[in-house]
Amino acid sequence: MTLRLSVIGTGYLGATHAACMAELGFEVIGIDVDPNKVAILQTGKVPFYEPGLDEVLERNIAAGRLHFSTSIQEAAEFADIHFICVGTPQLAGAQKADMSQVFGSVEALAPYLKPNSLVVGKSTVPVGTANEIELRLKATAATGVEVAWNPEFLREGFAVEDTLRPDRLVVGVRSQRAEDLLREVYAPLLEINTPFLVTDFPTAELVKVAANSFLATKISFINAMAEVCEAAGADVTELAQAIGYDPRIGNRFLAAGLGFGGGCLPKDIRAFMARAGELGADEALMFLREVDQINLRRRTHTVDLARKVLGGEFVGKSVTVLGATFKPNSDDVRDSPSLDIAVAMSNAGAKVKVHDPKGLANAARVYPNMAYEQDVLKALDGADLIIHGTEWNEYRELDPAAVAKVVNSRHIIDGRNTLDPQAWRNAGFTYRALGRPNA
Ligand code: UGA
Repeated sequence: MTLRLSVIGTGYLGATHAACMAELGFEVIGIDVDPNKVAILQTGKVPFYEPGLDEVLERNIAAGRLHFSTSIQEAAEFADIHFICVGTPQLAGAQKADMSQVFGSVEALAPYLKPNSLVVGKSTVPVGTANEIELRLKATAATGVEVAWNPEFLREGFAVEDTLRPDRLVVGVRSQRAEDLLREVYAPLLEINTPFLVTDFPTAELVKVAANSFLATKISFINAMAEVCEAAGADVTELAQAIGYDPRIGNRFLAAGLGFGGGCLPKDIRAFMARAGELGADEALMFLREVDQINLRRRTHTVDLARKVLGGEFVGKSVTVLGATFKPNSDDVRDSPSLDIAVAMSNAGAKVKVHDPKGLANAARVYPNMAYEQDVLKALDGADLIIHGTEWNEYRELDPAAVAKVVNSRHIIDGRNTLDPQAWRNAGFTYRALGRPNA
């Protein structure tokens, strides 16, 4: 009999996982506490922007392999394997993760679980969580219920591709049976030679935060170099290219600019430091504090640079920020560097207008008082300064000469180092970038 799967939590991770597991041929139920989200998903629509996900979702709902519900009891009775994909945001007023959704969903599931079900954690969690879940399930769930940990490495914007063609699969298990079940789930991915690593619980949990910490460190490393380049009059983009040719360093994740944001890297490094502290290993992760500081400093530096370009004062000046999302090809504005600087400049008295191809609705929910504009040329109309905060292709394709006609003053700060400096200078703009000479 084919395995039946449930996916608890249908955010970026869960909705993608549910749709992709159905794509692999399984019968899947996706569960969320939000009835609106469930209703939208059930009609085959994705309640957020993720390229390619709508097709997979629609196809599998139409095929009858995938459905959504708010009933966790239905999930427990329907499925043999349950993937926990709920959020672990930063706890308000603390550096650590808010684990209420993880433990809440496991506790809701427990009394209804069929004997021998497998509960697989995918959320990013503090090390020790799988063990804790196992203890709680032993006390409350049917016999033979087991736990496994299977961290997720997908990137927003590439979620479907990353799920169906992952770099690797990591499973933390305590039994051969759990490993075998996960091998069965991922059989089609094993056929395409996806590396499959079997570990204990804490290693599987740590792989995830270690990977995100490394990525964050790489970005902050190049942004630290950008600070030095600014002081020395050097060009960080050329420096990155030159060091990236060394295969031990590699050229990816060395794009200097406004730094990292989103719902993962910032909160993950903070939660990792907090957890290491609880374990008495806080010294080991002191450097992540610096990684976080370097990252946040790029935002304040950009606001300072903007003030300087505007002659020392924001009051009475119009600034257009291009980009609201934390990165292109997403509508996610969580901890978005560009939105963050837009808010800072607005608070300092600037008249700020924000444009984004996909993220304005989410931005308006978080900051309802900011001015938003869907049309890019209208957004740029009358600007004294343009800040390029998120590197959507649309911005690279802008014609600087056309922009020159609508702005009030020709100043641009490229916060992502992806625009063509010469093209903007040729159109009469002062082009400034992070970590590059401003001549
Ligand atoms: C990140 C990881 O890349 C995924 O592997 C992981 O699964 C995911 O977090 C997660 O934990 O769920 P994501 O948050 O989608 O994925 O975004 P990234 O593509 O990693 O970008 C993060 C941020 O770093 C963005 O704000 C981006 O603009 C910035 N970035 C990235 C740079 O500033 N420079 C770079 O060179 C690369």
